[in-house]
Amino acid sequence: MQVRHPETRWDWNKIEVDTIDFPPGFQWGVATSSHQVEGNCNNNWSRWEGGFKADGNPRIHNGDRSTIACDHWNRYEEDIALIKALGVGVYRFSVEWSKIEPEAGNFDDSAIQHYRDVCLALKAAGITPVVTLHHFTNPLWFEDMGAFENEENIRYFVRFSQRVFDSLKDHVAIWCTINEPAVYTSQGYFNGVWPPGKQNPQLAGEVMKNLLVAHTRVYEALKSSADGKNYQVGIVKNVFPFDPYNRWNPLDWFVCSILDGVFNQGALDYFQTGKFSFSMPGMDKVKYINKSGLGTLDFIGLNNYSHQRVKSRLNSKEFFRFEFYPDEEMTDMFYPIYPEAIYRSIKRVKDIDVPIIITENGIADKKDDRRRRYIERYLYAVSKAIKEGADIRGYYYWSLMDNFEWSEGYEMKFGLYEVDFTTQVRTLREGSKQYMDIVARFSQ
Ligand code: GAL
Repeated sequence: MQVRHPETRWDWNKIEVDTIDFPPGFQWGVATSSHQVEGNCNNNWSRWEGGFKADGNPRIHNGDRSTIACDHWNRYEEDIALIKALGVGVYRFSVEWSKIEPEAGNFDDSAIQHYRDVCLALKAAGITPVVTLHHFTNPLWFEDMGAFENEENIRYFVRFSQRVFDSLKDHVAIWCTINEPAVYTSQGYFNGVWPPGKQNPQLAGEVMKNLLVAHTRVYEALKSSADGKNYQVGIVKNVFPFDPYNRWNPLDWFVCSILDGVFNQGALDYFQTGKFSFSMPGMDKVKYINKSGLGTLDFIGLNNYSHQRVKSRLNSKEFFRFEFYPDEEMTDMFYPIYPEAIYRSIKRVKDIDVPIIITENGIADKKDDRRRRYIERYLYAVSKAIKEGADIRGYYYWSLMDNFEWSEGYEMKFGLYEVDFTTQVRTLREGSKQYMDIVARFSQ
């Protein structure tokens, strides 16, 4: 039986994906994050990785640990050559706070020098660096003082950010403050499957608010330098549209609207209206209206992978589940290929009225039998949004190479390059050529 989908669906049999168009100067790139690729981290994640869940299973799929990951810390020159070979002009990476400031107030100049060297090597290869200051990981000292649970701790993140900015700003013009505050919050404080493994909606609201305030404080600090206007500072926001399983069930719609508020709209409101609120059934509302997010974005980084389909349940312990229709083609992650999601997400962040950069989009596809289609269809959706007026400046594919995919360990293969984790050999995947072809077509 053909299921009627309640959400926007395009007829891909009628769409010609090569009718795409991208403006001159569009930034094509690839993205990674420090903990996922560098190796030898000593942070909240490395500590978390050794542990077990309440049911006795390891917290990380297969009991994997990040350990040396892609050894990117030592192999960055080789990896920059791989980036260049793709034909892209941007590399988005993150700096590892725990390496730069292993103890509170004690900065390691050699770690900062490392990132300067990375920037120099990128420049020499003609690739623009885009730096993320916080990508899920905290130094242990910061984690142990409650990290972003306490508003007073934000100053440590501002101090670190200022230090990195001062050290790298002669090479870096585009800065992402915080990667996906809602993912950090929901996984660490609501689902409890990422560090610090708490399940406390009230605290989740507090953390989310503090991350947004942290963004604003970092924005203000970096932009207040004498040459602040020369730098673009933005946040990276993951948007996941939530769609009901049963369009005739009001409870499915209701749960979608709650999840959308917490995961998507809360942060968007903060930047669009200056107000933040967070509410889940059974908790007090966390409201934050004093500090305004208005005017604290030079751009918004948008990460989108797919949508979620919500089936409500009359069960107070688990009031919903994610469940997809049989005709939805899945990625290796727990969500399907649904290119309309990126289009719908762009339409939402567009209302903030700042330029958009797609800071992440990509597919986990071990068999490499869907990557090509994913790339051409999602880029079709991005191009369509641009044609309809969205101000999108760039697109960074996630990820340059296979890496440590958080609680999914090494099982998920997001890389344009396959990595053999015993030999560290990188090999271009067939499906990735679709990205290279599109990049070549729209680069002068
Ligand atoms: C994002 C995250 C990345 C990467 C990606 C693929 O949420 O920022 O670090 O893991 O998802 O799942």
